[in-house]
Amino acid sequence: MQTSLGRKFGIDYPIFGFTPSEHVAAAISRAGGLGVLGCVRFNDAEELDAVLTWMDENTDGKPYGVDIVMPAKVPTEGTAVDLDKLIPAEHRAFVDRTLAELGVPPLSDDVEQASGVLGWLHSVARSHVDIALGHRISLIANALGSPPKDVIDLAHEKGVPVAALAGAVEHARRHVENGVDIVIAQGYEAGGHTGEVASMVLWPEIVDAVGDSASVLAAGGVGSGRQVAAALALGADGVWMGSYWLTAAEYKLGSAADGPSSIQRALLGATSSDTVRSRIYSGKPARLLKTKWTEAWSRPDAPSPLPMPLQNILVSEAHQRISAANDPEVVAMPVGQVVGRMNDIRPVADIMNELVTGYDQAVDRLNEAR
Ligand SMILES: Cc1cc2nc3c(=O)[nH]c(=O)nc-3n(C[C@H](O)[C@H](O)[C@H](O)COP(=O)(O)O)c2cc1C
Repeated sequence: MQTSLGRKFGIDYPIFGFTPSEHVAAAISRAGGLGVLGCVRFNDAEELDAVLTWMDENTDGKPYGVDIVMPAKVPTEGTAVDLDKLIPAEHRAFVDRTLAELGVPPLSDDVEQASGVLGWLHSVARSHVDIALGHRISLIANALGSPPKDVIDLAHEKGVPVAALAGAVEHARRHVENGVDIVIAQGYEAGGHTGEVASMVLWPEIVDAVGDSASVLAAGGVGSGRQVAAALALGADGVWMGSYWLTAAEYKLGSAADGPSSIQRALLGATSSDTVRSRIYSGKPARLLKTKWTEAWSRPDAPSPLPMPLQNILVSEAHQRISAANDPEVVAMPVGQVVGRMNDIRPVADIMNELVTGYDQAVDRLNEAR
């Protein structure tokens, strides 16, 4: 399993793995793919710097990347407007009532309340870029649009290619016009922020539209070697996977104890029908695991989610409380439809091995079918 893009990055397999966990990201790189660390959770620049130093030291000299979130500029950013004041009381009351109904306790006194919005701010995402460029990174990816031109130029000056997610052909074209090197064509079935076109239709459409001027990675629904083979058959230069790593043994985010976290237990029991695309996570449509929390927001008495970044601020403490409550029935977690295939906890190296073996078997089957 190899493509010219994989060779360009010096990786064994053209498998790019997005994950919020540095342990998983490093393991993906060590296993021959390219681990990409999600930076949106880092409000503290020093913490990100320390984590990237850890990545430098724990990737066996193999390449890795970072993912930042630079949505369209928050209109009030840099002004004195207090975003908290823009959140209606009705919304706050609904969140409080729902958490009480679902038995989610308040945070204990020794836990610091998260500020919610910081990682989504341009100023913070720019600090992520500055810090990351001081490390041995091989890729900067951006969710929610092309990064600003000066960020792309800065990355290019340092020889770092830039990738951006696209859920529709026009987004892909815009990315390429803006100087993005790699378009991540992300289908409807993907976990996290996602558009309305399914991978089977979107991948070849984006390859046809921009494949001559940029590399294309296929994202959304990949969780087997057969699906990697399908992505390459449809013209992609590799795959970009997010959900599938959430049940990796190395994924320990938010769980202090050994063994699967409540989130992982919920994921293991879910089928491909157990996700929902909703604005309740951030204000923009994102695919989440369907749980009592997401169901509460679809009740007739629930208010409409607020626009980004207000919804993110509204639910920030709720997400912290839900995570601390450790109840698999009440989880706030992005995941794609591929969750139906995530049925055991395995080390990243085993997952990679399965992807490569499954790919080879799929190619053999196709060769036999010629
Ligand atoms: C838990 C989770 C968090 C995500 N957060 C981000 C993010 O911060 N930035 C980003 O570019 N993509 C994010 N994504 C999307 C992934 O990068 C990836 O495009 C997507 O998971 C691919 O589809 P799949 O879930 O079917 O593998 C997230 C996905 C998941 C499952």
